Amino acid sequence: MKERLGVFCSGGDSPGMNAAIRAVVRTALYLGYEPVGIYRGYDGLIDAEMQVMDANSVSGIIQRGGSILRAGRSKRFLTEEGRAQAYKNLKRWNISRLVAIGGDGTFRGAAAFLSEYPDLQILGIPGTIDNDLNGTDLTLGFDTAVNIAVEAVDRLQDTAAAMGRLFLVEVMGRDSGFIALHTAVASGAEAVLIPETPTDFSAIIKVLERGWQRKRTSSIIIVAEGDEAGGALKTAEELEKRFPHYEIRATILGHIQRGGAPTAIDRILGSKLGAVAVERLHEGASGAMVGTWANEIILTPFERAIKGYASPNPLLLKLVEVLSL
Ligand code: F6P
Repeated sequence: MKERLGVFCSGGDSPGMNAAIRAVVRTALYLGYEPVGIYRGYDGLIDAEMQVMDANSVSGIIQRGGSILRAGRSKRFLTEEGRAQAYKNLKRWNISRLVAIGGDGTFRGAAAFLSEYPDLQILGIPGTIDNDLNGTDLTLGFDTAVNIAVEAVDRLQDTAAAMGRLFLVEVMGRDSGFIALHTAVASGAEAVLIPETPTDFSAIIKVLERGWQRKRTSSIIIVAEGDEAGGALKTAEELEKRFPHYEIRATILGHIQRGGAPTAIDRILGSKLGAVAVERLHEGASGAMVGTWANEIILTPFERAIKGYASPNPLLLKLVEVLSL
């Protein structure tokens, strides 16, 4: 009987996950394994919702957003009993190697699982639009999410300019400002509010005043979902009180940023990381996230991958300020 290798997606889905699943399945076949798809993340492990896959199971999916294996956050896997049931199912299915695609919660779960069942081998692939993991300069889905946000802001710029308004655009990122900062630079926004830096309303008013003096007729400010000012709606209320010149509108992009076709960058990243994860499992590696760093593939232990993350680039923050002149 062939050895089996399982793959699943956990946490929030992100564009590029399907490319990674495809690469895992096909590389596993190439190396002589029987790949098994596990549905709904850790819940699928607990409920034994699994299926043997072949090359055809992953045909025509590289261009699709979401995840053919679905995703999700499992409360039951946080318990010892949940993990024990998952382990039992893996033994029954003869699976000892796993690829976990997800973010910090996924890797925290994988680390706990491995500490209890060290005979398993698990490697992770960074799959989250937030880009908030240590040990990779890109997570799967980040590039797509930023491109979607930039396209949306371009559209908002048109109506903002025509109507002479200030738009506050809220992008995703509960704890991280990567999407907000990259969107702000790429769309030429006047200011950006992110959770990693304190929100300074008087500095924002200064930027708006400066623009108003030089007859700027509209403005865009990007707000990360997790900014301490409380998101786009609250920020709009605050700015309305302090800057009466513009009519203000707030737009929340929300989950639109997580859907749709992945960019080429995310497809390539998913393909690379999926293939390398299987190769490294085959060579005996375990307990780490496979990431890409300055064009090299590196492995970072789960505990380090989830322990905080590099803050958004200060150079980009400065750029937003300088280029809004
Ligand atoms: O972690 C990815 C992410 O999209 C965050 O940016 C966002 O805060 C969160 O997930 C939303 O979670 P949910 O899909 O459960 O609403």
